Amino acid sequence: KRMDKRPIGVMDSGLGGLSVIRVLREQMPQESVIFVGDQGHFPYGTKTKEQIQQLALRIGKFLLEQDVKMMIIACNTATAAALQLLQNELPIPVIGVIEPGAVAATQHHYKRIGVIGTESTIKNGAYAKTLAKLNPTLSVISSSAQPLVSIVEHGQTGTSEAQKAVDTELEVFDNKSIEALILGCTHFPFLQKEIHNKLGSNVQLIDPAFETIRQAKELLTSENQLSDNLTSSINLYSTGDVKDLVAGAQKWLPNGYSKCAHIELNEEG
Ligand code: DGL
Repeated sequence: KRMDKRPIGVMDSGLGGLSVIRVLREQMPQESVIFVGDQGHFPYGTKTKEQIQQLALRIGKFLLEQDVKMMIIACNTATAAALQLLQNELPIPVIGVIEPGAVAATQHHYKRIGVIGTESTIKNGAYAKTLAKLNPTLSVISSSAQPLVSIVEHGQTGTSEAQKAVDTELEVFDNKSIEALILGCTHFPFLQKEIHNKLGSNVQLIDPAFETIRQAKELLTSENQLSDNLTSSINLYSTGDVKDLVAGAQKWLPNGYSKCAHIELNEEG
């Protein structure tokens, strides 16, 4: 059986990517990971499509130089803006989180669901379009919740400020009787408790990470590219200050990580 010990490349604008890495660790513990958090350009959600494309492509090229066997865009904003571009430009498989999130949401025969994401993701309409393709009768209410991103990035989950912000951002779903909510930003699963408090336990929260990692594993399996590493490594890099990423990794990667360091990516890509 052929194996491939090369790492999987993962990117996000910040530490939201850790919500995808924690599922990856659960499902594929033998895979090594190289993660880039683009804290130097955080947040992505208020940037233009062209800016996000440039940033994502630069990170994709860096990951390629690190000899990754595939890339996971663990960022809904970058998936919406740049998945196609990266798939065209990089000679490795690239998968995003939006189609998997939409697939996960349409497996349950819901009639009415909500989607929250960054300003850019919601404006792009990527979820609404993908959901409509998968199930044209599904009613979808989309709403941006950009302020929640920095609350997570700066370690404020579990505070009363976080709950207040969630209550405000999710007010649009009051009396809308949604059955499920897609957490369409990889930072948001870290606010699961606050979101549950606001919406009640009848609303299912959908974290696209699970279906994303299922698809990644399926792809690697079919290509005979799974790793049989007994000592896989998790290397985390930040283009900005590593402080928030270190704090996030300590909190949300229960099995630890190998190292966390700052990197400079050159502007030319
Ligand atoms: N975590 C990102 C996402 O999934 C982006 C957050 C941001 O930088 O605005 O959309």
